[in-house]
Parts: sequence; C-alpha cells; structure tokens
Amino acid sequence: MIRLETRFASSFVPSGEFEPFLAKAESARKTLHSLQGKGNEYLGWLDLPKRIQESEIERIIQAAQRLRASSEVVVVIGIGGSYLGSRAVLEATLPFFQKPSKGNPEVVFAGHHLESRYLSELMEYLEDKDFSVNVISKSGTTTEPAIAFRLFWELLRKKYGNAAASRVVATTDSSKGALKTFADSEGFETFTIPDDVGGRYSVLTPVGLFPLAVAGIQIRNFILGFQNILEVLHSESDPLRNPATHYSALRNYFLSSGRHVEVLANFNPSLRYISEWWKQLFGESEGKENKGIFPASMDFTTDLHSLGQYVQDGKRILFETVLSPVEIRSDLTLKPTPDNLDSLNFLAGNTLGHVNEQARLGTLLAHADGGVPCLELIFSDISPMSLGELMYFFEYSCAISGYSLGVNPFDQPGVEAYKKNMFALLNKNGFEKEGELLRKRILGN
Ligand code: PA5
Repeated sequence: MIRLETRFASSFVPSGEFEPFLAKAESARKTLHSLQGKGNEYLGWLDLPKRIQESEIERIIQAAQRLRASSEVVVVIGIGGSYLGSRAVLEATLPFFQKPSKGNPEVVFAGHHLESRYLSELMEYLEDKDFSVNVISKSGTTTEPAIAFRLFWELLRKKYGNAAASRVVATTDSSKGALKTFADSEGFETFTIPDDVGGRYSVLTPVGLFPLAVAGIQIRNFILGFQNILEVLHSESDPLRNPATHYSALRNYFLSSGRHVEVLANFNPSLRYISEWWKQLFGESEGKENKGIFPASMDFTTDLHSLGQYVQDGKRILFETVLSPVEIRSDLTLKPTPDNLDSLNFLAGNTLGHVNEQARLGTLLAHADGGVPCLELIFSDISPMSLGELMYFFEYSCAISGYSLGVNPFDQPGVEAYKKNMFALLNKNGFEKEGELLRKRILGN
C-alpha cells in the first residue's frame, strides 16, 4: 500500500499555515464523491475498479491471446491518454531486453507523434515479421493515430490481404467517430471506452488493459491494485491519514508558497513512463485558467548529472515527489577485486540496490538542504498490482488537487489550439480562411 513520507518536506510546512489546505483538500474530496463538482460527466473512473465486469476482462484476455498467438509484434497506436498508461506499465514491468517471438510478442507504440523516420523504420522492421495492430482513439478522429493507422492498415492489407482485418483490434467510442465507422465497415473486433471516462483516466478500460494483456501482463493483478487502494482512499476522511488528500493539500500548499514546478523523480528509470503518464494526468487536469503546477520529471541518478545542478542551486520554484518502491526485482552484489584498480573495493559486499538506496537518501537530504521540499511515495514494488495502486492514487489525488485549485480536472480545452492551427495550415475543409490568416502571420505581414 502507498505511504506518503514527509520527513524531507515537513520543515517547509509551518503547521499554522497548512491546516486550511488540509481542510480544503478534504472538502474537495467530498465534492468529488458528491458527484456534483465540475466535469462530473467524466467521473466514470471513480468507481470503475468496483464496476469492472468479469465478462469484459475475459473478452480482453481472449482477444489478446488471439493476437499473441499470431504475432511477433503488436503495434499499439494511440496518443495521450490512449497510450501513456499501458506504455507506463509495460516499460516498468517487462524485461528490458527480450527478443520478439510468436506467442509472446513485442509491443511497440505508434501514432504518438508525427516523425516520419520513426514510422518508416517501424514499417521496415515489421516487413519480415508477423504483426497485428491495436488502434486506440476515444474520439476516433485524432490526427496522429489516424495517420499511423492509415499507414499500418495499408501494410497489413499488403501482407495479409483479406485476413488483415482479423489482425486489428480497435478501441474507441461505442457509436461515434471515424475509427468506429472504419471498424464497423471492415469488421474489426472492437472494445469500447465508456463515455464517462476521459482519456487520461482510462488506463483501467480496454485502452490500457488490452495492450497489457497482449504483452502477457496479468491484468487481474493490475485491476486488484486499483481495487485495494480504492477501499482505503474512499473511506479515510482524516486528511492526514488519507495519502491522496494529504498529497493534494501539500501540492497546493507548495504552489501557494511559490513552488510552481513539481518534479516527479525516480531512482528506477523503468518508472520513466509512469512519470510521462503522470505528467499528462496532472498537466491536462490542472493547467488551465492560468493556474496549476507544472509537472516535470527526472530519472535519477542519470539526471543528477544534468538537471541536478538546477534542483540543488537554481531558482527555488521546485518541490520533488520521489517514487520509492521498497523491493527491487533483481539485485547484484559487488565483489572485491585483488588490485582494486577502480578504487571501488569500499563497496565490496554491498548490493547495487543498497548503493542506489544510499544515493536516494543522500539526494533527498541534499535537495532538502538546498531548499527543495521532497516528498516520498513509498510503495512495495514495481509489479502490476503496485502500479495499479499507484495509478489510482494519482488519479484520485489529481481530482482532489484540481478541485482544491478550483478548476475542472476533467476537461482539456487548451489541447484544441494547436490542432486548429495545424488543420488551418494543412488546408483542411472548413479551415481555409483561418489558414490564410495564419500564413500571413507566419510570413510577418
Ligand atoms: O486525456 C485526454 O483526453 C487526451 O490527452 C486524449 O487522451 C488524447 O488527446 C487522445 O485522444 P483520443 O483518444 O480521442 O484519440
């Protein structure tokens, strides 16, 4: 279970000033459960761990099994909330190095940017391999995944002819959007994203669960993590005993005292995509109306040799939250050498895990001494179940924190601005006039 440790932050939180933030966070938690807060049409994620249907889990596992049996590679196409959750769990839990094979396919991602080199190299990589596609888009109209799917559908058709459709699983809206129309017309197997669950809260829907099952993750364990922590978070009304309420209150307190940037740090770079997922969750949920904490991430000790300088000595606008799993999966023991040429014999007999832990503690002490409050999120290990707990903890905290801040944590109006300009510059039907104006601005007349 998750524990919020504040030993390296408490000196930054004067008790008289903090109580109102705790009270506000608990009131925000109540608003969340009243289902009357802003964006309440997107609260499907709140009880989802309790409502998830066994028949849906079974169908996901069956469909995943079908693709696993016939594919060496499965391409998961999606952007934002439609890929970050599954990628985060896969990067954290799968072996770093493994060869693709039929029966245990490699999962690769596409449709999350527009770099042509990446897509053409991926298409080349797939040429001599059996592959399938899981295309994911709630709206069914997002440009990046739609372009990627167009390319991979053509490749599938070329390779498998009429059997291509059986190699596509589409995850989208139940009734609307271009992807739904595409899927119906070609007869793809489809999974539905509930209307009341937004993209960044959708990892517990087929959006996240299907790619995990395809990669061989025991999705029931992942779901169990969500279910376990839900019970704790929903029932604890003491804000100091509820880690999500406490975390949300601390974030908003730090923001009010001029700390505009939260760094989610880890000492296990396999958690890097957990941070990417978290950045989308908090960035899209809180960054609006000129408000919000800027969510940043760092992988330590790597980034201690680059951004560490700024954290230690730069502008004091930061606080840190450190992902701290207790157990590590495999450890190495350092042995002594007779000549001690690398001068490392002082470490002989220690495990690398122990060395990393001292690096973690040393960093927290140094950063706190340098004026950066450091929170630790302590959880048991990097397993699907613990990650399920962690992800629900963050979803729940984000909703409380957003309500405390006074924003709607479930919309993302700002995401549209770049899309509108891009469509105008690409002369999409209906955007011609805007395109003309933008081109003039770019040319400076
Ligand atoms: O959180 C969100 O809603 C967004 O980031 C979406 O996940 C992202 O834009 C992808 O949208 P879609 O699934 O409609 O293609």
